[in-house]
Order: sequence, then C-alpha cells, then structure tokens
Amino acid sequence: MPALSRLRRAVLTGALAVLPAAAVVALPAAPAQASSPLRVHAEAQGKFIGTALATSPLANETAYRNIAATEFNQITAENAMKWDATESSPNQFNFSGADQIMAFAEQNGQQVHGHTLVWHNQTPNWVQSLSATEMRSAMQNHISRVAGRYASNPVLKSWDVVNEVFEENGSLRNSFWYQRLGESYIADAFRYAKAADPDAKLCINDYNVEGVNAKSTAMYNLVRTLRAQNVPVDCVGFQSHLAIQYGFPNIQENMQRFADLGVEVRVTEIDVRMQMPRSSAKDATQATYYSNVVKACLAVSRCSGVTIWGFTDKHSWVPDTFSGEGAALIYDENYAKKASYTAVHDALAAGDPGDPDDTEDPSRPGTPAASAITSSGATLTWTASTDNVRVTGYDVYRGTTKLASTTTNSATLTGLTPETAYTVHVVARDAAGNTSAASETTTFTTLEGPGTGTGCTAAYRTVNSWQGGFQGEVKITCAEPVTSWRTTLTFPSTVTISQNWSSVRSGSGGAYTFTNAAWNGTIGAGGSTTFGFIGSWNGSGTPPTPVIS
Ligand code: G3I
Repeated sequence: MPALSRLRRAVLTGALAVLPAAAVVALPAAPAQASSPLRVHAEAQGKFIGTALATSPLANETAYRNIAATEFNQITAENAMKWDATESSPNQFNFSGADQIMAFAEQNGQQVHGHTLVWHNQTPNWVQSLSATEMRSAMQNHISRVAGRYASNPVLKSWDVVNEVFEENGSLRNSFWYQRLGESYIADAFRYAKAADPDAKLCINDYNVEGVNAKSTAMYNLVRTLRAQNVPVDCVGFQSHLAIQYGFPNIQENMQRFADLGVEVRVTEIDVRMQMPRSSAKDATQATYYSNVVKACLAVSRCSGVTIWGFTDKHSWVPDTFSGEGAALIYDENYAKKASYTAVHDALAAGDPGDPDDTEDPSRPGTPAASAITSSGATLTWTASTDNVRVTGYDVYRGTTKLASTTTNSATLTGLTPETAYTVHVVARDAAGNTSAASETTTFTTLEGPGTGTGCTAAYRTVNSWQGGFQGEVKITCAEPVTSWRTTLTFPSTVTISQNWSSVRSGSGGAYTFTNAAWNGTIGAGGSTTFGFIGSWNGSGTPPTPVIS
C-alpha cells in the first residue's frame, strides 16, 4: 500500500492527526459501553447507586426512563416529595408526583429515599407565617401525613427528615423554623418521623459538609448530641455538590468519623460541575471526583451508597443556579455516557467481589476485528462473551503479553510499533476470577510511522503567491519525541514543486512526499520544525492547498 493512502487512513482515525491550521476542537467522545449497568456492580457489594428523578422527563422521555430503570437501584425525588409539592395549602395534600416516583421504583426493583420533610426552602409561605404553636403542629401533621403515606411500603427505605440546618460557619441556620421554634425543631422532626414511619432510616442532610470543616464538625457534634439524647437519627447525608475548580474534599476521612458514631452515612446528591465549555481535560478531572467519591463510600463500611443528583446534563439544576457552569452529571444532554459514567462504573466494578461459589467460565469471546489502524494503535472489537453471573472485563493479549484490559467488548490499543504485525487474542473474565478460552487470533499490521514515537501533526500554509507560483510552508509538531518524520502533500496534478528547503522531496504530478533533512529529524515532545518549498501551477488567483497525509 502506498504511504499516502496508509497515512491518510491514519489521519481519518485521528491517531496521526494531520490537521489544517484551524482545527475544530470536538467534545470528547462518549466512552465505550460498560459491561454491566451500575446497579449490578453496586448490588454485588451491598451498596446502592442512586439518582434523583424529575417527574416531567420521567413521564415524557423514554431514554430518561430507560436509563433510570436500568442503571440505578435507588431513587430520590428531586422535587416531588418536598413540602411545596405535597402540601402547598394547609392540610391539602397532593401526592401525584410522589406516587409517580414510588410507582416507578416499584416497577423497577428500586428503593426510594424520601426527600425532604423539613427544609427552609421550597416550603410554602403559609407555613412561614404561622405562630410557633401552629408551626410545630403543621410540621407534625406534614411529617405524619407524608412519611406516614409510605410507611407500609417497603420500597421507601429512608427520609431526609431535616435538610440544610447549618450556616457555613457551623451555627444553626437562622431559618424561619429556627426563629420560631428554636433548636428543638430538629429533634422534634426526628421524633415525629419515627412515629410516622418506625422502619425508615431517618437522616440529616446538608451540603458543604463533605470534607472535615467547621460546618461538618457542627453537624458531627449535633448528631452525637441528638443520639446521646435518644433522638432517632440513623443516618447522615453528604450532598456533595462539587465543582472541579474548588478541589476535592477529604470525604472518606469525614464520612468515617460520622460512621464511628454508629450512624449510617451516604452520599445523597453528588454532581460535579465545571466552568463551561466542557473539554476532555475537565471531563477527566470530573471523572476522578466521581470515582473518588464512589471509592470513599466503598471504603467506609457504614456508607450505604451514592446518589447522583440526576444523571443527564439535559435535566440538571446546575446551569440555572451557577451562571456559566454545568456538565455536572454522568450522561451528556443527548444521553451519551461521559467519562464520569465510566469512572463510577469502574470504581463500583473494581470492588465487586463476585460470587465465591461461581466456578463457571465466561464463554469464548468472538474473534477480534481490527479497525482504525494507525502507526501506533488500533481498535479491536469482538462479539461479547456471556456468563452465568456476568462478564466483568476482557484482556487483550499478543502471545503472553497483555496489551490492554477493558470492561467492554472493544479495546483501543496504543503505543504500538510502526510497521509491525500484531497477532492478538482476547480473554474474558468474570468477577469471581474465572476466565474464558482464548478467542481466535487476528493479525493486523501497524502503518508506517513518521519516526520512532508518533502523534505528529502537520499544518500547511501558503506564505506568499504570485501569478503562476506560490511559496508553501509546513509545520510539523510532535506530541512525542521522534527521530524522523515524513509527510505527503497532494496538490492538483498541475502543481509542480521545483525547490524545497529543510526537507528531502520526492514525487511528481502534484503528489510530493517530504522527509526530514539530516539535521531536523529529531523533534522533542511538544516540539516542532518547519520546511518550505516553491510551487508553480498554471492557474491564477488563490493557489491550491494540498491534502496532507
Ligand atoms: O415547576 C416549576 C415550573 O412550573 C416553572 O415553570 C419553573 C420556572 O422557574 O419552575 C419550576 O420549578 C422549579 C423546580 O426546581 C422544578 O424544576 C423551581 O423554579 C426551582 O427552584 C426548583 O429547583 C430545585 C431546587 O432544589 C430548589 O431549591 C431543583 O430542581 C432541585 O434540584 C434542587 O435540589 C436541591 C435539593 O433539594 C437539596 N440540596 C440542594 C439541591 C440543589 O439545589
């Protein structure tokens, strides 16, 4: 195969990115499909992986419903169980949204976390203007009716009894509840909730309490005090509305100190926002946040699970609240999985202990098919294996050397040697460590490279032009060190190049290949070099630009 066509294929697949000077920066591609849904891995470890759900997309969007049902084993109503939704007028209850959430969870074998009984926000004005006696009575009635409605339903497992009762400095929030009823409203709310639903786990929930700080320490002290007074506080929720620009809190250490009080802990509302627009670097940072939160929960035995505050960027509260920020969730607005989905998946799957009694091997994977072959990489895809429990991953081998591991039936190989034949096979594994028979092998040959090391780009510009002639320049930039390079410029056949510098030229009839001169073959990581030439053509006006490969 001529070098031109081989290298053009590499360009199309993006490994040897030969770009025009004005490149379009695309959003990162969605990561590959995971082998099992999040809930499968979470269930294997006795944790929940949850999402907040909004009633409108739940009623109207199939993709929303399908992902919510498939990926999560726990649900929190984003708004439907709040006071303004359930009792907007005194003692007039409306459970339409709340019941919709409950019915969905019942249909899909999911547990529900009730959110929230007593909060200063999304509570109607009529409550806020009550006298102290009336307000306490309204609170008791509300808790009794709302928590009581689902008390006999085994799907409803827990309630946020009080939400966001602290100021940032750790003092109790100066809310209308506190102003009218004093600190005692908190203990009362828990006692009323216990009376309404004795089996539910009763939680206190807040934001900016993920790390050890003044607010979380105040919460710690309150939980310890309430429990010492036999107030039924079972659980502490760490909302975890994080942002990549503010750093990652020491959440494991903080959750552990609460767990050591004997309470259940949980991540209740995680999202990880970023300043828009998205980039692959920001996505990657976000993914580490998600991964670290899941790992923290896995590491704390009293952590019952992690709930993500929604799952698609299409329906997130973040852009409405934080101007210029967004992309905080694990699916994009088109329901494509993001790097953060893979991070959550892999963190859950990595700790999946598997079934110790499982001795059955996964079935043999299909023969891998190679595509997107470049000088340094290739994509392999094969028919997935099946397993009596589940396939948790695949390993790609060249002989006995493992080239890649993946959780999907596709792998991207990188760092391969140019112009080299690779005979590869795939082995599937399950969580219990059983491995399949090796797949049939497939052989592919990497393309000719620009030198040792790859990842060079070439950018062309016309420096100058005149009637019938022009001066062109090509800048070669390499992400990795190389000791030689080569690029081909294909003009219309009427173009003749008669002179060049800082390069060695071959070719004719419009197609010319340039390799390095003796002195400029070596380019360091991130370095570049430039060569030039004089061309002539029989046209007029703007000189033609070449296809670069
Ligand atoms: O339903 C109305 C709609 O009819 C109207 O046209 C529209 C106009 O703004 O508003 C809609 O209501 C909005 C509601 O979300 C439903 O989308 C409210 O304005 C809006 O304020 C409300 O925001 C919710 C917010 O709590 C209110 O405080 C967010 O969806 C919800 O995600 C957010 O959730 C909170 C948790 O409960 C507690 N922790 C923090 C978390 C994020 O703020």
